Amino acid sequence: MLSARINGLNDFEEWRAKARQLLAAGMRPGDVVWRLPGDDSGLFEAGDDMLPSGDVPVGNVPAAFVELAREAINHSDPERFAVLYRFLWRLLEDRGLMQSASDPDLNWLTRMASAVRRDSHKMKAFVRFKSIVDDSGLERYAAWFEPEHFTLERTAPFFVRRFDGMMWAIITPYRSAYWDGESLALGPGGQKGDVPSDDAVEADWKTYFSSIFNPARLKVSMMKSEMPVKYWRNLPEAELIAPLIRNARQMEAEMIERTATQPPSRHLRQQAREPEVAEPEGEIQSLADARAAVQGCRRCPLYEHATQAVFGEGPAHADVMFVGEQPGDQEDLAGKPFIGPAGKVLDAAVEKVGIDRARVYVTNAVKHFKFEPRGKRRIHQRPDAGEVSACKFWLNLEIGFVKPKVIVALGATAATSLLGKTATISKLRGAPIELEDGTVLFVTNHPSYLLRIPDVEGKAREQQKFEDDLILVRQAIASIGTRH
Ligand code: URA
Repeated sequence: MLSARINGLNDFEEWRAKARQLLAAGMRPGDVVWRLPGDDSGLFEAGDDMLPSGDVPVGNVPAAFVELAREAINHSDPERFAVLYRFLWRLLEDRGLMQSASDPDLNWLTRMASAVRRDSHKMKAFVRFKSIVDDSGLERYAAWFEPEHFTLERTAPFFVRRFDGMMWAIITPYRSAYWDGESLALGPGGQKGDVPSDDAVEADWKTYFSSIFNPARLKVSMMKSEMPVKYWRNLPEAELIAPLIRNARQMEAEMIERTATQPPSRHLRQQAREPEVAEPEGEIQSLADARAAVQGCRRCPLYEHATQAVFGEGPAHADVMFVGEQPGDQEDLAGKPFIGPAGKVLDAAVEKVGIDRARVYVTNAVKHFKFEPRGKRRIHQRPDAGEVSACKFWLNLEIGFVKPKVIVALGATAATSLLGKTATISKLRGAPIELEDGTVLFVTNHPSYLLRIPDVEGKAREQQKFEDDLILVRQAIASIGTRH
């Protein structure tokens, strides 16, 4: 048995270097125990210092695995390093493993990666900054947050983009992130008491907090990658404030201006994990492959803020495919289409007109949730033409694999995507449209449109029209007969 000692909690590069050494030495996964920081057991086991050092190549690893591993390693489950190594070992023997929807290790890692994305999303939604104005009038912001997983590093660039004109700190139990308006630095974790509980801040805390934002110190902390909090306390006062004196109001105005008009600088975009890898298109040979690959989609920027891609659901060879616009808030968190309020309207209408749910596949024109954060809420934003067209790749795959006989476009976005040109519901509803491949398309309103109608009569009228459209769909399915 060999102990592989890991120093970082979520350092992908460290794990990869160690995994390469282990592979080069032919160490089978069952013969390696991964020891995490703080785990001093196994002192009498053989250590990894006996392994050959240096960067040992191990052959080509699918880009999708690297992408998945980079996410999954942020999970707090102590097994993550071992499962990653076991899966990598097996992947090098069987390159098709990334496409195996039933592989338990792959499923485990995919679940871990999606929990990490959800956790990161929670951080984006729930971090609340406290404002601290020091005696010179300079304003800074700090937030305490306890993520479930090690997600600060992957989420901090989001805050840089959102609040690039502010100086802020996010402190978590395992790590802290500091933005001084120019560069992002990471430091060790802290405690809840490091952030004031309300906006009236104690004088000594102000001093401490000022010290955190000393740019010279931040450079040091970036170079060393860690700088203990206790050192920040000891900075001389003059040094703390002098480089930072800017009028707080002016900073705020600049911030609003910048956030509204300026794309993130190149420096920030790099930190925001620019797409390294496209999804492995050549390897998509089934609906299950597409479902796995869509999680790596970088075809448009919507993946950056969504929790996950939401793929379609239903029988692999359903007779009818309903296509909505994009996942909503609940769908984004759950990873399933049409489970929120609009889904309930759709389900009720489908049942009422007598369409057999067992013959229905439900999906969306766009697979990532597009929204605007407002306080704690995420407000739906309609996807633009570029996003719809980028995502047509996935919708085409779903149509190609499921081969529905009837497709129902719910709303203008879906209709535009399916027809490839701007569609108006009122002009297109009520009659089948034959698509190039012979599939029959029906167009109707999006169920959320019904939810938004304020007056009872108008709502009832539109509900009836919606159901009439679905009756046409039921009749079309019936005329096709059962495929299976
Ligand atoms: N609206 C949609 O278009 N799709 C969903 O999945 C949910 C709401």
